[in-house]
Amino acid sequence: MVVNRNVPELILQNEKWDEERRKSILQAFEEEVYGCSPKDGFSVSWNIVKEEPFKNIGTKRVVEIYIDAPKGRHSFLLYVFIPKTASQHNPVPVMLSISITPRFPQPSGMVNGKELDELLKVVGDRVETLPTPSELPKPEPYDLENNTNDEKWPVEVLLSKGYATAAFYAEDIGPDNETKYQEGIISYFEDNKEAPNSWGTIAAWAFGASRAIDYLTTDSLLDKSKISVIGHSRGGKTALWCAANDPRVYCCYANNSGCTGAALSRGKKGEDVFCINTIFPYWFCENYKKYNNREDTLPVDQHMLLASIAPRLLYLASASEDLWADPESEFYSAVLASEVYEYYGLRGLEKKSPLKPGQKTHKGRIGYHVRKGRHELTLHDWELFCEFLESKR
Ligand code: GCU
Repeated sequence: MVVNRNVPELILQNEKWDEERRKSILQAFEEEVYGCSPKDGFSVSWNIVKEEPFKNIGTKRVVEIYIDAPKGRHSFLLYVFIPKTASQHNPVPVMLSISITPRFPQPSGMVNGKELDELLKVVGDRVETLPTPSELPKPEPYDLENNTNDEKWPVEVLLSKGYATAAFYAEDIGPDNETKYQEGIISYFEDNKEAPNSWGTIAAWAFGASRAIDYLTTDSLLDKSKISVIGHSRGGKTALWCAANDPRVYCCYANNSGCTGAALSRGKKGEDVFCINTIFPYWFCENYKKYNNREDTLPVDQHMLLASIAPRLLYLASASEDLWADPESEFYSAVLASEVYEYYGLRGLEKKSPLKPGQKTHKGRIGYHVRKGRHELTLHDWELFCEFLESKR
């Protein structure tokens, strides 16, 4: 099926796909969408603050990661769980989860410091597609260290399948809040925070994920060639931006990542660039606001972000009732990104027409499923992702 969304070309006429093209695409995303994060001028170190046996199936480590930047030191905790099967001779693959659930309780009825009612005004007739409050990140705190049997991050299940897994709180990198978002890692760098291309929260969280990878690549029990990054929703947008920029990522899994995640912006239903920039103006850079209601003028579209991950593995998942994220726009984005995988002589997404709820396609380098149901990350999603990874071993 032809996808006619008038998106910018991935491979320009009479040109080829190469590192230069990939870099120029990432630069456009940086300038116009996510904002520029620091490439140098900082150093990273860590300290294992706790190490103990974990339920007779492995080891738990809490690692404090320090980022020394021009204006001081920022630190955050990484919770790492390693199965018993791991050894220096048998390093295991690892899944890094970007947790968008809060460490501290949030006021209820509010989304990131704004009144929910106030936000609803901007969505107009798209209100029908909005996720219900129960689908939004929960205001209740979530304990990454001890809550190891939860669908959002099923540590015990992953260990039983032979994976190590690690997670950090996105808000430890930078608050998910319009007035406070620059109080985290961003405040330690001397860039001009008011600049139109200054980094937003998604780029800051992705930078944090790469600092977690700095640690993971040094752990001899972990297979540093098999690091996957996983995120749901705003965490999925973050996982994609991290994987596009960080070649150490072996596989990226973005679950229900929607607007400015996997979904094409042109022709998108549900949340669009205007909505996301109005409700979450601090997630992206100022330049991105130029494209409110003018998606057709964007120099990029999200299939180009997906293509920047090629030829590495990519896994996307939609939920059939998640109309705010728009499953079709997520799917077609993967279809279009496949062109670059094909350029490498590989299969991208195997299927070219949208799947029915409950279906999956795992044969290509891009795997995808659409689960029946709403916007969330379930154990079933994790199981299918593991199945996809297994099939690539
Ligand atoms: C809101 C937002 C989405 C985001 C989601 C989430 O619904 O509009 O873009 O993906 O929150 O992170 O849960």
